[in-house]
Amino acid sequence: MPQTIAVLDFGSQLTQVIARRIRECEVFSKIYHYSTPAAKLREDNVVGIILSGGPQSVYSRQAPHPDRAIFDLGVPVLGICYGVQLMGQLLGGEVAHSKAREYGHGVLTVRRAGKLFAGLPRKLRVWNSHGDKLTHLPPGFRAIGTTENSPYAAIADERRGFYGIQFHPEVFHTERGVEIIRNFLLGICGASADWTTRDFITHAVENIRAQVGKGRVLLGLSGGVDSSVAAALLHKAIGRQLTCVFVDNGLLRKGERQSVEKLYGDHFHIDLRVVDASKLFLRRLKGVTEPEQKRKIIGRTFVEVFEKSLKSIGHADFLGQGTLYPDVIESVSIGGNPASLIKTHHNVGGLPERMKLKLIEPLRELFKDEVRRVGSALGLPKEVVWRQPFPGPGLGVRVMGDITAEKLDILRNADAILIEEMKRSGYYYKVWQSFCVFLPVRTVGVFGDERTYDYVIAMRIVESTDAMTADWAKLPHELLQRISSRITNEVRGVGRVVFDISSKPPATIEWE
Ligand code: XMP
Repeated sequence: MPQTIAVLDFGSQLTQVIARRIRECEVFSKIYHYSTPAAKLREDNVVGIILSGGPQSVYSRQAPHPDRAIFDLGVPVLGICYGVQLMGQLLGGEVAHSKAREYGHGVLTVRRAGKLFAGLPRKLRVWNSHGDKLTHLPPGFRAIGTTENSPYAAIADERRGFYGIQFHPEVFHTERGVEIIRNFLLGICGASADWTTRDFITHAVENIRAQVGKGRVLLGLSGGVDSSVAAALLHKAIGRQLTCVFVDNGLLRKGERQSVEKLYGDHFHIDLRVVDASKLFLRRLKGVTEPEQKRKIIGRTFVEVFEKSLKSIGHADFLGQGTLYPDVIESVSIGGNPASLIKTHHNVGGLPERMKLKLIEPLRELFKDEVRRVGSALGLPKEVVWRQPFPGPGLGVRVMGDITAEKLDILRNADAILIEEMKRSGYYYKVWQSFCVFLPVRTVGVFGDERTYDYVIAMRIVESTDAMTADWAKLPHELLQRISSRITNEVRGVGRVVFDISSKPPATIEWE
């Protein structure tokens, strides 16, 4: 394990943000369940501990407590919000329960810069969100910062390296919060800022080789960012011991299969098996109109085809997956933290058990932006690394109602024009997703002297940071006009183009 900063999760929605900020300082961080034994932290080469915030009061009966031995490990500890109250209580201070939460901006006056506030101004705008308050310091501690409401907004026992702050340094509303975190990591824990993409790759390659040995790895390649980076990384580590399977389900975008074949087969020389199952998928989807039914059929058929492909390949020991860190963090759900309930419909659950394969997930410690950096460092092109998300069921949920080869063709051609124009104008990389949707509605128009009666294409172009909420993109009218007129001119069967101006919520990003 590299030098690690452990973030003990007491159920705050900001726990992941703390871990992110630490990684931004080029120090490796990992989120642990609040009750993780101190011995485990020692084993993991933990050089500093951060106690996260949390929704509970230290007085509540369900108040989560850490293993007390973490304070005897000899490594610095920083308590944030709930974390500082816990420290106060566990180390012999006093905490008063207050019903009213202190919430929002405050001004911190630094009373003693020391190592935590080194290089920072004497007054800082900080962001608070806490209920309980420290009223008596534990032995050995002193106040190093105050706010108008709290004489103990920042406290320290510098000899033992224990620090506590009532505000949240990890949110952007706190002025120079990242520097406070960096001071803790580098100045107090003595961590070295060397957790870089190159280090990650070197480490990952060693680990993959150690784990796989002489075994064979099978990876389902979708062409999306995660599976692409996982493939490139596994390939770097074990070369021809990796076999990638790309399933053409007939619901792909124009040229998608060819570009996967070109990049992974011709360029990377990966052992790539392309399975053309489009006929099977379309046959099973015939006449199906209900979106969830479509998803089920597509998911089930994928698993079936994938399993079958293993038979033709022969033997495999591992199943590779491009799982990312946010997918594996088991958020502590205390007081119903909604962040722990994010949907999981993207994962093909159960596949490794069914196929009796061991799982190998080389990206499971990375956040999305780190995955992109790794992808670039491994030589994947910008179009792959910065690709927009594409749903597993593909165009199957973008042809409204029942799916036919003809409708898919129309959609594919219209969508290719939209993507081409978005890329040409540079907007493709500025928005979250941009795509066409096929509407099985016929509307009247004129083309030359003739009356037409053709289908409708909807353009869906949204901005978002996490797909949980989204807003339609306010693009230049000239760009929309160019896409629209090219689609109606170049794609037979389309007589009308509309632009979707709904936000999420209440609309979702996809139409089905
Ligand atoms: P919605 O439509 O729920 O989409 O606003 C949020 C994000 O998830 C993608 N999406 C899916 N991805 N399988 C997937 O792998 C699905 O069934 C699916 N449905 C939606 C969607 O493209 C957007 O990025």
